Amino acid sequence: MERNDALWRTAQKLIKNHTLTGDEYELLLGGQDDPEITALLREEALRLRRKYYGDKIYIRGLIEFTNYCRNNCLYCGIRRDNRQVTRYRLAEEEILACCENGYELGYRTFVLQGGEDSYYNDDRMEGIVAAIHEKYPDCAITLSLGERSRESYERLFLAGAARYLLRHETADEDHYRMLHPEEMSLSRRKKCLEDLKDIGYQIGAGMMVGSPGQTDRHLAADLCYLQELSPHMVGIGPFITHHETPFAHEPSGSVDQTLYLLSIIRIMLPRVLLPATTALGTMDPMGREKGFLAGANVVMPNLSPVKNRKDYELYDNKIRTGDESAQCRDCLELRVRRAGCHLVTDRGDYCGFEM
Ligand code: 5AD
Repeated sequence: MERNDALWRTAQKLIKNHTLTGDEYELLLGGQDDPEITALLREEALRLRRKYYGDKIYIRGLIEFTNYCRNNCLYCGIRRDNRQVTRYRLAEEEILACCENGYELGYRTFVLQGGEDSYYNDDRMEGIVAAIHEKYPDCAITLSLGERSRESYERLFLAGAARYLLRHETADEDHYRMLHPEEMSLSRRKKCLEDLKDIGYQIGAGMMVGSPGQTDRHLAADLCYLQELSPHMVGIGPFITHHETPFAHEPSGSVDQTLYLLSIIRIMLPRVLLPATTALGTMDPMGREKGFLAGANVVMPNLSPVKNRKDYELYDNKIRTGDESAQCRDCLELRVRRAGCHLVTDRGDYCGFEM
């Protein structure tokens, strides 16, 4: 009873102040199974989403242009050591063909995502970004290419990229070590995010929910980090086991915990762009609708060539042939409407962002 009172007070405090201490976030994370607390936070999250974005859901066309990766993250299906993956790279013309297809379908944001593939050095990447920017000046170009030098980020920004997604994955040093090989570092990742923000990108950070070894303490640290960084976008989704990784026998994360965190993040950062991720849709056929009803306002359907989709498998059973496909706008519209929202085709910049 006393515990519930403390939870209730903490939830109210978040609603009032949009911020909590690490200890308070940790306490609040214990409220995930309390139906009154979850309802309270969800209602407030929806109220805030409506206040800033109405019932609009923004769509981004995702182009997974390379699955080569120099990194060996323990959770990821396209990690360097996974020899079972058929590796592919899209040529510039193929990427442009995806954009053309997407443009016709009404997409005004293209997200170029790939593993850390040194083939796409600064010259090549700059060429690709400039070509898309020139052909589609009314579209936003979002990059998700992992860690690069500040100079590289600057060049790509000048070539026309406006946004960059780089999940921090976990804000706790020890937990970071559990998920990544020796040669990677949390401090470098944070430095990249700071550089990106400083250059002028709209940035996205985020983490997996229920990754191996993750505790509420770690998630509380993630929330504090997000609070401090104040990114324009936050990508979170459940960790999902991949059978060809060292975490093959670890359980996947939970949909409910992801939804609970979506609501908390919406309240913390009311104007944030918050995707209902593919991982959420993979874990639960209604995952994305549930995400919108928890405060999400972005969805990123797949625009990659159909022939390559099966090879961009970050986790097992990643959905790829149904409504998440960019080609299936109508199915998506139906899903979004079921959650009381509607799809919009504008660029969908961060609310208040000056171009
Ligand atoms: N389960 C869920 N998400 C994953 N990602 C990578 N591997 C997995 C997995 N097994 C996420 C990471 C990365 C993003 C592109 O995909 O958070 O930043």
